[in-house]
Amino acid sequence: MKRHLISAADLSRDDALLILDTADELARISDRSIKKLPTLRGRTVVNLFFEDSTRTRISFEAAAKRLSADVINFSAKGSSVSKGESLKDTALTLEAMGADAVVIRHGASGAPHRLAGWVRGSVVNAGDGTHEHPTQALLDAFTMRRRLGSLEGRRVTIVGDILHSRVARSNVLLLSTLGAEVTLVAPPTLLPVSVGSWPCEVSYDLDSMLPKSDVVMMLRVQRERMNAAFFPTEREYSRRYGLDRDRAAKLDDGVIVMHPGPMNRGMEIAAEVADSPRSTIVEQVANGVTTRMAVLYLLLGGADLGGEDQ
Ligand code: NCD
Repeated sequence: MKRHLISAADLSRDDALLILDTADELARISDRSIKKLPTLRGRTVVNLFFEDSTRTRISFEAAAKRLSADVINFSAKGSSVSKGESLKDTALTLEAMGADAVVIRHGASGAPHRLAGWVRGSVVNAGDGTHEHPTQALLDAFTMRRRLGSLEGRRVTIVGDILHSRVARSNVLLLSTLGAEVTLVAPPTLLPVSVGSWPCEVSYDLDSMLPKSDVVMMLRVQRERMNAAFFPTEREYSRRYGLDRDRAAKLDDGVIVMHPGPMNRGMEIAAEVADSPRSTIVEQVANGVTTRMAVLYLLLGGADLGGEDQ
């Protein structure tokens, strides 16, 4: 494995499978009453969040703590970043504190890549602008594997605001590495120009794709990144691209519905679909912790996991 995890493309098929298998093992250990492992004792993990986050930040914190690492949480609000301190100076401060891993979320695509040039520890991308979010793709793949078995040949349909989604790009890259067939479904205005070079198919018609899907992954319409009108009205968007009750009712029994959160209930996904048994939304959050534990463990080369209580 490479020293940093910045893009899902950094992972070979063997790397990705090693992370997923390690996460499986960690999930088994996490079922015990004492969840904490001593593997990263004495190591420091810094969570550097320049953009809002609920799930990802808490999940990385829980993951590092369960491996007994020391965790420093930094959020841009209330720090010297609001006084205009640059990413580089922030990085040098972290370096002086001896961070073994820096988990970074930043509004600018490419920020984790820059950071990797300034610090000695491993850099983990927790979402950079509209670029990538590789640990989300890993936890999604982990969730799919748990529900459906091997991903080889599985048909995954990713629906919605692809243009602004770092989750979509990372998922397309990782899922193709793992042998799944991905189709993106969105209105033409919400697809990036470069999508033709991605390892996936594209469709504008949700209803024609649903019968051909094993997994339907809905994405949030990211209004905070929109500076223009990308669709006529929310109602119109929802009617054509929303997973409502009627559409969900037509899905085959084993088909799972995913969403990385946060959801716009009633817009891209109906509340009752999000809460239905085929939805994996809550599992995705739980699986996020074990998957991120696996990533930190493998990047930092922690001590033996040990199947027995320690
Ligand atoms: C996503 C993100 O921040 O990229 N959420 C997440 O990490 N779970 C998707 C989103 O914001 O819609």
